[in-house]
Amino acid sequence: MQKQEAPEKGFRPHFPHFATQAIHVGQEPEQWSSQAVVPPVSLSTTFKQKAPGQHSGFEYSRSGNPTRNCLEKAVAALDGAKYCLAFASGLAATLNITHLLKPGDHIICVDDVYGGTNRYFRRVASEMGLKVSFVDCSKLKLLDAAITPETKLVWIETPTNPLLKIIDIEGCAQVVHNHEIILVVDNTFMSAYFQRPLDLGADICMYSASKYMNGHSDVVMGLVSTNSENLYKKLSFLQNALGAIPSPFDCYLCLRGLKTLQIRMKKHFENGMAVARFLEVDPRVEEVIYAGLPSHPQYELMQRQCTGCPGMVTFYIKGELAHAEAFLKNLKIFTLAESLGGYESLAELPALMTHASVPKEDREELGISDTLIRLSVGLEDIEDLLEDLDQALKAAHP
Ligand SMILES: Cc1ncc(COP(=O)(O)O)c(C=O)c1O
Repeated sequence: MQKQEAPEKGFRPHFPHFATQAIHVGQEPEQWSSQAVVPPVSLSTTFKQKAPGQHSGFEYSRSGNPTRNCLEKAVAALDGAKYCLAFASGLAATLNITHLLKPGDHIICVDDVYGGTNRYFRRVASEMGLKVSFVDCSKLKLLDAAITPETKLVWIETPTNPLLKIIDIEGCAQVVHNHEIILVVDNTFMSAYFQRPLDLGADICMYSASKYMNGHSDVVMGLVSTNSENLYKKLSFLQNALGAIPSPFDCYLCLRGLKTLQIRMKKHFENGMAVARFLEVDPRVEEVIYAGLPSHPQYELMQRQCTGCPGMVTFYIKGELAHAEAFLKNLKIFTLAESLGGYESLAELPALMTHASVPKEDREELGISDTLIRLSVGLEDIEDLLEDLDQALKAAHP
């Protein structure tokens, strides 16, 4: 196999002490009387008070839990944030953030957004009196033009899903901050290791931690970081008032996953790049989109904004739906499943799976066709992954 050049070349430098913070911040043994090195899973729903109203930091597990607290502190450090809050899922985090608004307020959401976020804004938030516009925020002029006096929140995801368009976070922050608008970046695809939206001017950084942050496909969770005390206070109130919190055991698992985030992301990048390079020259493939490839139209922005690239590779297989289906059905190591960001490689057809809830005409306009395949390249040996792709492509195009 061809020797790969170092994938980090040309990218923004990595954040110093990342792995040390992931392993230690919020997890100091001195905080427990047992001096436990691994933060205990604190299952108690309630905590003894010294006198009525006099508690030692925790009163009821919905409003605060020791294990959740450890996780929130660690993630805040990784995001370069003052505060972090954990939620029951990525969408629960989205729900809580949206509750910062009131009926009549306007949200601008990037057009190529995760299908569930699209569904929530279109079918739930809109029903509750919020106005929502979907805009191609990769064009800052379009974002600027879409802002109205009612606009209170701009929601971007970068890279977008599944088309991997890169949105200029600093550029969006400049546009948005000419007004009193909150800029939220869904950082799920990049993880805290490859991208720090708050450093680039975002007000809120959110994750579906169900993906890379936990990284083991065994936790559904959301995370929200911010440097704004005002936003933190409001979101902290909502975390308790709405009650969409994660379980202590999930917090423990996610904290455990975070400890290997750095080494996992490096390997996802290496494997993602090798898969993208393999597909890019394959005659059975129409087009490959991978933000780490110099052929990506926003490669320069990607390098300026991020320290690397995750294992998300999108490509159009030649032919039609039948070819895409034959490819997906014949994969042996890649599992045909939704979701992404775990150690195992996954493959899916967004038009029929993750993005089936996006209206057909919107999908077509965006380019989410029946031959568009999304890969979440995992941590297996690259020779096996490439062999698997090759044999499935053969089955699709005998
Ligand atoms: C980019 C992105 N944001 C948000 C979500 C929603 O997160 P969750 O599934 O944890 O609710 C997902 C889930 O796939 C996602 O991919």
